[in-house]
Amino acid sequence: MINVLQITDCHLVVEDALLIGVDTQASLEAVLRQATAERKPDAVLASGDLAHDPMPAVYERFLTTVQEHTDAPLVCAPGNHDVLAAMSGLPQKDLQIGNWAIVNLDSHEDESTPASVSAQDRERVQQAFAETDADHVLLSTHHPFVAVGAPWLDRDRIQNPEELVKWLAECSRSDSDPAESQSAGRIRAIVFGHAHQEVSGHCENVPVYGAPSTCFQFKPRSQTFAIDDEGDGRHPGFRWIELDEDGAVTTQVGRAKEFLIEPELRR
Ligand SMILES: [Fe+2]
Repeated sequence: MINVLQITDCHLVVEDALLIGVDTQASLEAVLRQATAERKPDAVLASGDLAHDPMPAVYERFLTTVQEHTDAPLVCAPGNHDVLAAMSGLPQKDLQIGNWAIVNLDSHEDESTPASVSAQDRERVQQAFAETDADHVLLSTHHPFVAVGAPWLDRDRIQNPEELVKWLAECSRSDSDPAESQSAGRIRAIVFGHAHQEVSGHCENVPVYGAPSTCFQFKPRSQTFAIDDEGDGRHPGFRWIELDEDGAVTTQVGRAKEFLIEPELRR
């Protein structure tokens, strides 16, 4: 069994600054402390919006912070708040662990909030599928593949996700296993960030999961921007994704309960 720790939407800012009153560096540290106390990750997947101030020094601090807590291989993907050129110091190469590949589909475009999956992004994923001999693929993106029920967030999700999933399934198929040709190819699950809340659902026949942010969460089903101030939503979170040898995926969300989010919103 492979234990993947997903951390997402860390929104790190310049040294000693706060974001809506939240110390996003401290909340990331609380998440890493909590998760690594629970188990030892075999890989860490950071699925975008790692910086809110997208500067090389901020990304460097992100990397150091993760490495202070775990020596597991790390793969970082960009989100809408990230700037790809500034992230060049972060590991972004797809991972292969055992008979699993973790492949990222870049859904971001610098300085633009909505999901954008370009022909070039598709091409890169297609190439990754062709290059890996792994039997099973965990696909990651930044933007959600499903609506989360909050209109202000949902307008920026991946558009026409059913078509994209069908295409991904098709090009991930392996010739050596014709039994898979009627299914989702080698894709066993899709994970994403951006929604700042726990999400689980299906797109076509593929399970899709969103992880809570390592800082503040958005209020579920809110019509407009709102920070969650109830229950687990008041804590930074993360997701464990367990990848079985036989292709099964089990997953749960965890929370850093010791850290209470108390945002300061200007009215
Ligand atoms: Fe985002």
